[in-house]
Amino acid sequence: MTNGPRRAGVILAAGKGSRMRSVRPKVMRTLLGEPMLQYVINAMTPLFRDIYIIGGYGLDSLRERWPRADFIEQKEQLGTGHALACALPVLNEAAIARVFVINGDTPLVDSSLIEDFLSRAGTLDIAFATLSLADPASFGRVVRTGENSWAIIEAKDYDFAKYGQPTGEINAGMYEFGLNALNELLPLLKNDNKSGEYYLTDLIRLGQEKGYSVAPIPCGSNPSLMGVNSPAELAAMEDLLRAKINADLMDKGVCLHSPATVSISPAAVIEPGAEISGPCEIYGDSRIGSDAVVESFCQLRDSIIHSFALIRSFSHLEGCEVMGGAIVGPYARLRPRAKICENARVGNFVELKKTRLGPGSKANHLTYLGDSVIGENVNIGAGTITCNYDGRDKFETIIEDGAFIGSDTALVAPVTVGKNSVIGAGSVITKSVPPDSLGIERNRQKILPRRKTR
Ligand code: UD1
Ligand code: CA
Repeated sequence: MTNGPRRAGVILAAGKGSRMRSVRPKVMRTLLGEPMLQYVINAMTPLFRDIYIIGGYGLDSLRERWPRADFIEQKEQLGTGHALACALPVLNEAAIARVFVINGDTPLVDSSLIEDFLSRAGTLDIAFATLSLADPASFGRVVRTGENSWAIIEAKDYDFAKYGQPTGEINAGMYEFGLNALNELLPLLKNDNKSGEYYLTDLIRLGQEKGYSVAPIPCGSNPSLMGVNSPAELAAMEDLLRAKINADLMDKGVCLHSPATVSISPAAVIEPGAEISGPCEIYGDSRIGSDAVVESFCQLRDSIIHSFALIRSFSHLEGCEVMGGAIVGPYARLRPRAKICENARVGNFVELKKTRLGPGSKANHLTYLGDSVIGENVNIGAGTITCNYDGRDKFETIIEDGAFIGSDTALVAPVTVGKNSVIGAGSVITKSVPPDSLGIERNRQKILPRRKTR
């Protein structure tokens, strides 16, 4: 946190993002599994004690995703200038002196970029970051109106006859203001432009007219500051981020096969020596230990894979933990609170939910295990199902060490299978089976003479 006058950060995130053609607010769109707005929050968190997010379109979904964030509502989306004006009462109340403002659709910004911008902005009343691009696209264009004066003209309002060919210098959507300047200038904004919106960018011209110190802060051609408006721009930013994260991981000693197809969230921790094959997605707070292997076509979210575990192709893991020496997949599904202990095995078309599969135990084929505690060296036969739900409540199944569950068994919970017991194939087990016993529930097989068909 920088010393000096009390500073707040404001994120503009109330817009719909019409160019995304979605009912969800644009800042909820994800890059590598994290919403755009999360990146902006992450970049600002180390630098500002007070961070306000202007929300409006889809504000409920934002509040739900970030329950502890400070939101300020912009009821109608009348433009970026109007959005910032919605924060004025709160900023004055909090006795803030300087206000950093950034568009919420700038996901690749990072703390060091902001810090550098703030130090170069110094004590200017208004500072705005600019980029030099080959093509100014739909960005606001920076126009020199005199020796030391500038204006930002939005692409829609750009008049070639008046301003000539654009230079490629554009407004990045990152600003700093003295609160005094905002208090005086924001009420003066007008919406007499092509969009009929109150443009934040008009503060540059207005500020100079009123004698405030105003200057652009050129930030080169850094793509990290480019705003995301369309699906194509989102994909391009995600590609940049993926390449950066993967290059850092490979530098650290993580082995990635086909890295262009490996998507790893910045929130995930991958230890050196881990090996991951693309295509593959590792999202959320996942952790992959050294010498763990994740094969291609897997998706992991918020899952912990310890060293020397193997996740084979086409597995889907969420909120689970896999210990060293365990093998999962191919085609396995681990749902929240599944824990696969040391050297256990989960095979194809096996689903586990809220279930602990003990050390050395195996569930290799076509099985559902939910709300279960399974001991050591248990064998779960093909087609075993824990019937954990009676339509209203969930019940637990306990299978003790060394038990053997024959194929096509239904275990109707609550039920316990004792240590070293065997369940005969095809049984529907509704009563607990004590240790060292055989539990079997099926009709005796009959052999009859074959009936003549003709
Ligand atoms: C804006 C700038 C443009 C700049 C570009 C950089 C203005 C008028 N233009 O254009 O100069 O080059 O960003 O990426 O500021 N928002 C609100 N309330 C509103 C409208 C928008 O909170 O009423 C938020 C949006 O959610 C978004 C941000 O403000 O996060 C920017 O809005 P957007 O519509 O994307 O502006 P651009 O047209 O990209
Ligand atoms: Ca934008």
